[in-house]
Amino acid sequence: MGRIELTRILFFLLIIALNRLMPCYAFEAISSVVSVIGAATVSMVALGWNAAKCRMYECCDVRWIESNFTGLNNDLGDRLHGQHLVKETVLKTLKGHLRYKNSGKALVMSFHGWTGSGKNYASHMIAENLYKNGLKSKFVHVFVSTRDFMFEDRVDQYKADLQERIQKAIKECPRSLFIFDEIDKMPEGVIDALKPFIDHNPSFDDLDYTRAIYILLSNTGGKEITKVAFEFWLEGKDRNELSLKDIEPLINKGAFNEKGGLSKSDIIQKNLIDIYVPFLPLEKKHVTLCVEDDLRNKGYSPKDFIVQQVAGQLEYYPSEFQLFSTTGCKRVSSKVNLMIDDD
Ligand SMILES: *[C@@H]1O[C@H](CO)[C@@H](O)[C@H](O)[C@H]1NC(C)=O
Repeated sequence: MGRIELTRILFFLLIIALNRLMPCYAFEAISSVVSVIGAATVSMVALGWNAAKCRMYECCDVRWIESNFTGLNNDLGDRLHGQHLVKETVLKTLKGHLRYKNSGKALVMSFHGWTGSGKNYASHMIAENLYKNGLKSKFVHVFVSTRDFMFEDRVDQYKADLQERIQKAIKECPRSLFIFDEIDKMPEGVIDALKPFIDHNPSFDDLDYTRAIYILLSNTGGKEITKVAFEFWLEGKDRNELSLKDIEPLINKGAFNEKGGLSKSDIIQKNLIDIYVPFLPLEKKHVTLCVEDDLRNKGYSPKDFIVQQVAGQLEYYPSEFQLFSTTGCKRVSSKVNLMIDDD
C-alpha cells in the first residue's frame, strides 16, 4: 500500500510541475491518463481485498463450496452401516444434480426410515462433503419441526418466515443446502412454502433457485420398510439384495406421506420430490459396528466384550426373532459413555 501512496504523490508532483511547464491542452491529456490509472488502481485494490476476505471468511465460491464425491462415497460406505440403498441412490442423485448447471429444478430428496437408522447422519455427511465448513457453513440451513414449527395455529406465519429465509439464503448463495428434520411432526401446510422454490424453472425474481438442495427427513414409512426387510429376511435372502424396486410399492401407496408435514401437501401432488430414499432397520450386527465406531471416536480401541455388552443392552424386535434394533444406533453413544464411566 505504501508504494501505491508514494506513486500517487509522485504523480501529483509531476502534474504540478507539468502544469507549470506546459500549455493547457497538453495538461488535460495527461490528466485524463492519470485519472484512468487512478481508477484502475482503486478497482485492483478492491479486487485484492475481496480475494483476501474470501480466503479468511466464507464466501459463495469454490474455495468454500466443494463437491467431494470421493469423500461422500467413503463416508456413506464406511460410516453409515447397513444402508446400501442410501449409498447407491444419494450419491448418484447428487452427482446428477451438481454436475449440470442447468438442471432446471432444485433437488429435493426425502429420507424415510425408523429412528436411529441414520437419516440425520447421512444428511450431515452430505453437508460435510459439499461445504468446507460442513454443518457450520452459513450456506447450510437446518430446520427441526419440534423446535422451529411447534404450533399448529401458526402455519401462515411459518410459511411467510420460511419463504423469506429461503429467498435471503439463495440471494447469498444459490448453492445452499436446506435440511428439514422431523417433517412428520411439522404442521400440515408449512412445507408447501417450499413449492415456488422447488418447482420447475422458477422465475418470480431473477435469483437462481435451481442449484439448491433440499433434504426432508421423516420417520413415516419406517414401519412399512421394516416389514419389507423382515419378509426378505424370513425368505432367507441377503439384505443387500433388496432393491429400490422392492420399496417402490410403498411409495406408490403413499406410505411415506401418510401423516404430518407431507400429507396432502402440494409438493406431493405435483411430484416435486425428486427421490424417496428408504433407510432400512438396523440389525444387531450393524449396531455392533456403530458401537465400535463410537469407541474409536472417543479414543478407545473397541474391545469385543464391551461392544457385545452395549449392543446387548438395546431392544430388538420382533421379540421372537430379536432381529432389528428398536432405536437403531441412536442410543449407542450414551450407552458407551456409561460403560466408559463405569470402567
Ligand atoms: C475429499 O474427501 C477425502 C476423504 O474424506 C479427503 O481425503 C480429501 O482430502 C477430500 N478432498 C477435498 C478436495 O477436500
